[in-house]
Amino acid sequence: MKNEIVSLDVVDDELVIDWQDGKQSRLYSHWLRDHCQMPSSRDAVSGQRLLNISQIPIDTYLASAKIDDEGEVVLSFQPEDHESRFTQKWLQSNCYCLNPQQDDRSEESKTLWQGDSFASGLPEVDYALFCQAPEQKARALQYVQALGFVLLRDVPVIDRQVLEVIRQFGFIRETNYGELFEVRPTLDANNLAFTNQGVGTHADNPYRDPVPSVQLLHCLENSAEGGDSVMVDGFKAATILREENEAHFKMLSGTWVNYRFRDSDTELLSRCPMIETDDLGRIVKVRYNNRSIASIQLPPEKIRGFYQAYRHWAEILEREELKICYKLNPGDLVLFDNTRAMHARTAFSKGGKRHLQGAYSDLDGLYSTLNVLQRAEEGRKGDAIL
Ligand code: OGA
Ligand code: ZN
Repeated sequence: MKNEIVSLDVVDDELVIDWQDGKQSRLYSHWLRDHCQMPSSRDAVSGQRLLNISQIPIDTYLASAKIDDEGEVVLSFQPEDHESRFTQKWLQSNCYCLNPQQDDRSEESKTLWQGDSFASGLPEVDYALFCQAPEQKARALQYVQALGFVLLRDVPVIDRQVLEVIRQFGFIRETNYGELFEVRPTLDANNLAFTNQGVGTHADNPYRDPVPSVQLLHCLENSAEGGDSVMVDGFKAATILREENEAHFKMLSGTWVNYRFRDSDTELLSRCPMIETDDLGRIVKVRYNNRSIASIQLPPEKIRGFYQAYRHWAEILEREELKICYKLNPGDLVLFDNTRAMHARTAFSKGGKRHLQGAYSDLDGLYSTLNVLQRAEEGRKGDAIL
């Protein structure tokens, strides 16, 4: 049943709407004027706002509000003598009282997991279906949004194929490693990942600004003994830290540390917190990389407390019960949110061959593709899109 307006009133500087379902909206007059949808306020083609907030009189007030014969809400603003019309649907879906601050990045919109959460199998999608069937592509990207990772199966075992996979949902993020990087033991490796040593739980490239937010690892060969892959939900780990010791959580979210990567022709530096929270205190990004944290420089009175929190965070990230362990076989590709899902790999034998190709992309492009696919799905179901 449609949820319609039961009553409408102007009280002081607010429009007060009572909805059929018993909920109430209280909308500030300046917000309403600023969100005016009329052609004088919005470009007819792009829908972009034509007004600058400073052009709206500071003494703006709502002179009257009514519902017209079409069911639209008609508001009169003074002293401009400006009329705005809003559909009930727009008011309902944009009202800041009815819609809590939702986003696709924070812990609130995620399904947190630990090692035993995937008893019925890891989230996976067949690559041919990913390319051919929009709903399968949407399913895979939805896994990245909700769980932080997805496994694509049967990706052609072809050199540079990882870049084709990125082109299916977003844009390649080129770095000093090039468009892609070879993950296999090399002489004089500029990164421990390019040896046969194990690497502990980490997020890639915290030394970049901004950090590449999507990472892909495509397995071309894996006949080595060992070299298993590990994934940890960094958001889950951060919630555990917060539950076990809120002061430690606050220390890591309130302390910026330096990261560094350097080799013969690169010197990258960044400064950021290990746990990033938004204005509502929700976890939005996590980082941890013991290999590339730079010299830790903090005010002397902070150093002991920082080390306690840092140790606690590192210890949680290596807890066995948080890890999922799996083996990448040729044709497998793991696609993950590098601001949330942390990865590791076990050491492997020198004799066997293990070769992955890795590349980076970004979440904004991935989410855009997902949103457009979902918009199309909703369209198919007949829902109007505003
Ligand atoms: C990396 C990395 C993991 C692996 O290249 O960033 O962590 O499985 N590799 O080799
Ligand atoms: Zn890595």
